[in-house]
Amino acid sequence: MISNLHAQDTAHLFHPASDLKGLRQSGPLIWSRAEGVYVYDDHGRKYLEGMAGLWCTAIGYGNRELARVAAEQIETLCYAPLFAGRSNEPSIRLAAELADWVPMDDARFLFGCSGSDSNDTQVKLVRYYFNAIGQPQRKKILSRGNAYHGTTLLTANLTGLPAFHRHFDLPGPDVIHLTAPYHYRHAELGESEQAFSERLAAELEATIAREGPETIAAMIAEPMMGAGGVIPPPEGYWERIQPILDEYGILLIDDEVVCGFGRTGQPFGAQTWNLRPATMTFAKALSSAYQPISAVAVPPFMYEAIEDAAAEVGLFAHGLTYAGHPVAAAVACRNLELMREMDLMNQAAATGEYFQQQLCLRLGDHELVGQLRGRGLIAGLELVADRASKRAFAPSEKIAFKAAAACLAEGLVVRALPGDTVAVCPPLVITREQVDELVDKLVRGLDRVKTQIAG
Ligand SMILES: Cc1ncc(COP(=O)(O)O)c(C=O)c1O
Repeated sequence: MISNLHAQDTAHLFHPASDLKGLRQSGPLIWSRAEGVYVYDDHGRKYLEGMAGLWCTAIGYGNRELARVAAEQIETLCYAPLFAGRSNEPSIRLAAELADWVPMDDARFLFGCSGSDSNDTQVKLVRYYFNAIGQPQRKKILSRGNAYHGTTLLTANLTGLPAFHRHFDLPGPDVIHLTAPYHYRHAELGESEQAFSERLAAELEATIAREGPETIAAMIAEPMMGAGGVIPPPEGYWERIQPILDEYGILLIDDEVVCGFGRTGQPFGAQTWNLRPATMTFAKALSSAYQPISAVAVPPFMYEAIEDAAAEVGLFAHGLTYAGHPVAAAVACRNLELMREMDLMNQAAATGEYFQQQLCLRLGDHELVGQLRGRGLIAGLELVADRASKRAFAPSEKIAFKAAAACLAEGLVVRALPGDTVAVCPPLVITREQVDELVDKLVRGLDRVKTQIAG
């Protein structure tokens, strides 16, 4: 009953992150099934999933082994909390597995259900920690324009995109947004990437001096920005930012929700760009989105301080009913094991290089593409009306949405981001042949839009 489904969607579903009025006209696009890197809609049309869902289905769709693990876990122990010192085997095994992955000695893992709740947890942990060590005045969190850290009240505050603030009474207190490391749009005329990074470092130092270093707790950052426009850090950026944070005792919260588990050519973005984070957030590829699960990696120095402070209270009073859900943990754990068995980190790094080369070769000079950005298996194409002057299209043109729709008509799923950027982020299991197919479709999609505009 396809048409009935569409009618029921229109009548009853409240779609997140959607153009609600537009949806009344267009109706939803309903996905029915998926296999490998392909998804099928309810009319049976096949698409290459060039966005891995929402940057998350790393291992590809329809993995039978993960389905088996989920089914077995549901039969064995469908639920067991981690509260009050209770535990379950999948969570224990996942924490031990993660300990082998993360570039952090003796980390502990606090599980959640989404990137948003784990970033929310990060801010709570940072507060708890500074209160515990006698620096209760450290409350402010530094973030950046174009950042995306989630949509709960606190994490939408950290997110640096205006659409996520308007009508929500955001941004609120205690969050300071620094300039986005977005060279293409924010550099001055003729300013090199290195010089731009110097300027952003100077801005950070000036902000710390203005606010008072003793009031700033942490900076949260994606190693490379995702939803804010797929923006890799400019040359020299992290090399300049990290020492300033270290000097003033400001903790770096590394949001690896998109970069984590092989997206940028190394297991973590922190390794691609040599970050030394205090804590890390994982979600998405952690379970390849087969189950909703996220995690915060906490270093011993924080854990021990939190442990002491919690003793005064009688318990560490934070946690979610579904944190360490055994089905989600079992699936995530097997997902990470499969990634190892498939050597997916190295495979994705090689395919990622090929992907970037092909994009450059086929789209580097495309009339609509102002800048091609990315690393590994993630890319952003910023569309402009005029390449020489970087002139943007009028917002009413909704050019990135037109491009995403044109790609869809070619059988390719991509995503329109704010700032007229088209994002591409396929499952890590994509093959070279499938990369060729993706790029062919992307070129045809952009050519379609070019023709539409010319017409
Ligand atoms: C970098 C980053 N952090 C956090 C989040 C929020 O994750 P979730 O949507 O699972 O709450 C996202 C979501 O896209 C993200 O890209």
